[in-house]
Amino acid sequence: MISHSPDPFDLGGLVGQLKEFLEFQKNLGWSYLPWSPKNPENRETVPVVIHDSLKALSKAIIQCRNCPLVRERHQAVPGQGAFKARLMFVGEAPGVEEDLQGQPFVGPAGQLLTKMIQAINLQREVVYITNVVKCRPPENRQPFEDEINACRNFMEEEIRLVEPEILVALGSCAAQTLTGSKEKISALRGRWLDFHGRRLIATFHPAFLLRNPDAKREAWEDLKKVRRGYDGLE
Ligand code: URA
Repeated sequence: MISHSPDPFDLGGLVGQLKEFLEFQKNLGWSYLPWSPKNPENRETVPVVIHDSLKALSKAIIQCRNCPLVRERHQAVPGQGAFKARLMFVGEAPGVEEDLQGQPFVGPAGQLLTKMIQAINLQREVVYITNVVKCRPPENRQPFEDEINACRNFMEEEIRLVEPEILVALGSCAAQTLTGSKEKISALRGRWLDFHGRRLIATFHPAFLLRNPDAKREAWEDLKKVRRGYDGLE
């Protein structure tokens, strides 16, 4: 008679346990598992990929399925603008219009951003505009940290390829992601900061300005500073 000793690699049992664990998480309300609960930075779980060109990068962004935002987005939204633009604006994440059109800042906040750019005597076509996260978070909620980390390489690659002299962070998500600081936008805005040797300045997000027109005065001061930096005067 052949006796079966317990299998130390009981794969069937492991699969069963894993299934049970996933069902339990689902019942707790998770629709996906975060990348790595033990690693709050979540960085090593997302491969860093180097791209040869903005075109290759945009293609990778469009095809990306690295995080759960893929489920509800219509399409990913790569950055847009002049190759080798001297000025790059970085927002938070696409909204409804951007998700439908596949272009950054084309909704109401985008129209205000266009006016902000024109107010410092530039045109959208000569700058580069992108977002920290390339897919729309459901209900326009703020992106979660693991979503930001899953997308971070794309933004860093855009900066590496475009090589802007000046980065303008629009709102707290961009400002905090680019500086690594947890300070509020009201504390970070309006002064020259650094992003790996590039000049960085933060200002209010145009969507915030639409809701809080009184803050436009401070945003205008920040924009004048950007223009002076662009002219090499500060
Ligand atoms: N808000 C953003 O942060 N980005 C967009 O592209 C649109 C709205």
